[in-house]
Amino acid sequence: MDSILSSSTTFQLRNPLLSLHQPPFPSSKITINRLNKSQRALSSPPHQPLRISAASQSAATSAATASSFVPSEMKAWSYSEYGGVDVLKLETNVAVPEIGEDQVLIKVVAAALNPVDSKRRAGKFKATDSPLPTVPGYDVAGVVVKVGKQVKDLKEGDEVYADVSEKTLEGPKQFGSLGEYTAVEEKLVALKPKNIGFAEAASLPLAVETAYEGLERAAFSQGKSILVLGGAGGVGSLVIQLAKQVFGASKVAATASTPKLDLLKSLGVDLAIDYTKQNFEDLPDKFDLVFDTVGQGDRAVKALKEGGSAVVLTGPAEPPGFRFVITSTGETLKKLNPYLESGKLKAIVDPKGPFPFDKVHEAFSYLETGRATGKVVIYPTP
Ligand SMILES: NC(=O)c1ccc[n+]([C@@H]2O[C@H](COP(=O)([O-])OP(=O)(O)OC[C@H]3O[C@@H](n4cnc5c(N)ncnc54)[C@H](OP(=O)(O)O)[C@@H]3O)[C@@H](O)[C@H]2O)c1
Repeated sequence: MDSILSSSTTFQLRNPLLSLHQPPFPSSKITINRLNKSQRALSSPPHQPLRISAASQSAATSAATASSFVPSEMKAWSYSEYGGVDVLKLETNVAVPEIGEDQVLIKVVAAALNPVDSKRRAGKFKATDSPLPTVPGYDVAGVVVKVGKQVKDLKEGDEVYADVSEKTLEGPKQFGSLGEYTAVEEKLVALKPKNIGFAEAASLPLAVETAYEGLERAAFSQGKSILVLGGAGGVGSLVIQLAKQVFGASKVAATASTPKLDLLKSLGVDLAIDYTKQNFEDLPDKFDLVFDTVGQGDRAVKALKEGGSAVVLTGPAEPPGFRFVITSTGETLKKLNPYLESGKLKAIVDPKGPFPFDKVHEAFSYLETGRATGKVVIYPTP
């Protein structure tokens, strides 16, 4: 199980000698493409040669050395039409996003994939999506290389993580985390827990914020019992840990297929249910809350105690179950940082990954099997 509870990876991102004398990313060397108009940026000529900084060629020093600078163009995965994995293309001349006054520019070190990236790419949220072309990706971990005028707490060189889109489905970021740089509002960002690496940090934001928001919306509290449907997935593996370690659940049960029952136990479940052998709603155990990450809202309500409720992330919800869509906030990450730093909460990175940046097709194809364990992470980014 140790391979699943991945170990921490940290990188020396600054030259300590230089940082005594000057900021690690001297502002005189930062060049942002003033021509950056989002629609134009990805699609149209002129095709200027990509300026590759020294930092962009090496994972270990990426965004790190004091000689780093922000180029005007970057590598990024993007799509100009909705469809399957094949619409995703690796572009080399995408304009680096300009930041707003309340935003920071993050040099991406790691990113993670979420099912919503696939659903969005398939055109499921066309009506409320940002315009094409799109650089997908919600989850990021990286280094701040530029700050807007109204940014109060973050500074260049800070190692951070975030879900870059405040509203997941309504106008999500057109330039997400599957590029070398991404621009994010300060309020969505938190400092990366010191003890975990970038790959682990990138695996957390959207999933852990969803887990936390769902538990809060359901008014889950100490002494209550919970059943997590899909306990081995990106969100479910964090719901289990939050319920047990942060909210003080009296009993945590979860469902998974046979090979993943050991993972559930290592995450702290009291009752691991093999869904290939048992129907959870037929068991005598009933719960104060069922947290459904699978799309079994109709069955979820059958496992409730009198007065219980059900959080449903996907598919129809039946009362008293309810559905919600996560709103990104850095405040949740800040609140949870002590739990991550003490090791009470663990990032679960799928052991088939992390997938390097040029293997994003493979990573999405794997995520879309619906069999991922924990999170599918993209690392390193060039
Ligand atoms: N509403 C929101 O705000 C929100 C936020 C985040 C995610 N979501 C949605 O929630 C869903 C889950 O997201 P995720 O990131 O956790 O997905 P994920 O990581 O891709 O989930 C994969 C996991 O689901 C498990 N699984 C599949 N069928 C199962 C079943 N019948 N019973 C138990 N486990 C099952 C798999 O385990 P096995 O291999 O053992 O089957 C696998 O480990 C997605 O539809 C996503 O779009 C919604």
